[in-house]
Amino acid sequence: MRVLITQIIDSSGIAQLKAAGLEVDVWPESTPMPREQLLTRLAGCAGLLSMLNDTVDGAVMDAGPLRVVANHAVGVDNIDLVAAGERGVTVTNTPGVLTDATADLTFALLLAVSRRLPEAEAYLRGGRFRGWQPTLLRGMDLRGATLGIVGLGRIGKAVAHRARAFGMEIIHSSRSGGVSLDELLSRSDVVSLHCPLTPKTRHLIDASALRRMKRTAILINTARGPVVDEAALAQALSQGLIAGAGLDVFEAEPEVDPALLRCPNAILLPHLGSATYGTRERMGQMVAADIIAVLHGQTPNHLVSP
Ligand code: DGY
Repeated sequence: MRVLITQIIDSSGIAQLKAAGLEVDVWPESTPMPREQLLTRLAGCAGLLSMLNDTVDGAVMDAGPLRVVANHAVGVDNIDLVAAGERGVTVTNTPGVLTDATADLTFALLLAVSRRLPEAEAYLRGGRFRGWQPTLLRGMDLRGATLGIVGLGRIGKAVAHRARAFGMEIIHSSRSGGVSLDELLSRSDVVSLHCPLTPKTRHLIDASALRRMKRTAILINTARGPVVDEAALAQALSQGLIAGAGLDVFEAEPEVDPALLRCPNAILLPHLGSATYGTRERMGQMVAADIIAVLHGQTPNHLVSP
């Protein structure tokens, strides 16, 4: 049985699939697999090990005798779960293993934006540092600041845990409770997004949501790009409606709104939330184990239900 892997992943996951007697076809490029290649190479494949930037819809599922799609991500917004259900294709993901890495990166962005690190570094490298000054490049005090967490799942909780150690006050808004989004936006000094991308959360942070935030507040997004209206955010940043933003995800990756690229008060990263050695190793092993389980007629550990 053959498995198609759409990007080079940590070698241990690939070794695991081969050791289980599966034939493995890995797309060798460091760029996402073009759709026509995906459709062609799926012929004869029982398993697809997909990345979050592969659109896995009904047409893709019909391109091979697919039994399992194992997504190398916790988010599954790139997969048509209804189409999978209709075709009896099992879908799995990688929950849990990337929680700490993503929460750490969220905090790295929070600290970098609130203490203006890129601006400060550019100041020094630009030869402008002439000695310590009491009023130089002051940033936000985190102790006592309010962190508003949108979406209190595993990653949202892990961010809250870190924020407590910094003395931040925490409020949240989620499907299961907390304060309303309006209240969270108006009370928070830092708003951090941790909800999945669904039709309900697409552009949850739009122009009117941004207007509700404090002018001194910062927005962090390590969830999914389309949760934020990127054009509206660029406008809010350039007009000083909010103080800054830290983004790891974008609406149409790898494209980034040019207006956002021009905002000095935004820190922009190339979707690195889970990018640590150990996390990527565990993610690869998790998808491999679930593919092996399904293709051997067993129930996978990380089943995604429609
Ligand atoms: C996920 O798993 O959804 C992350 O965005 C991957 O980095």
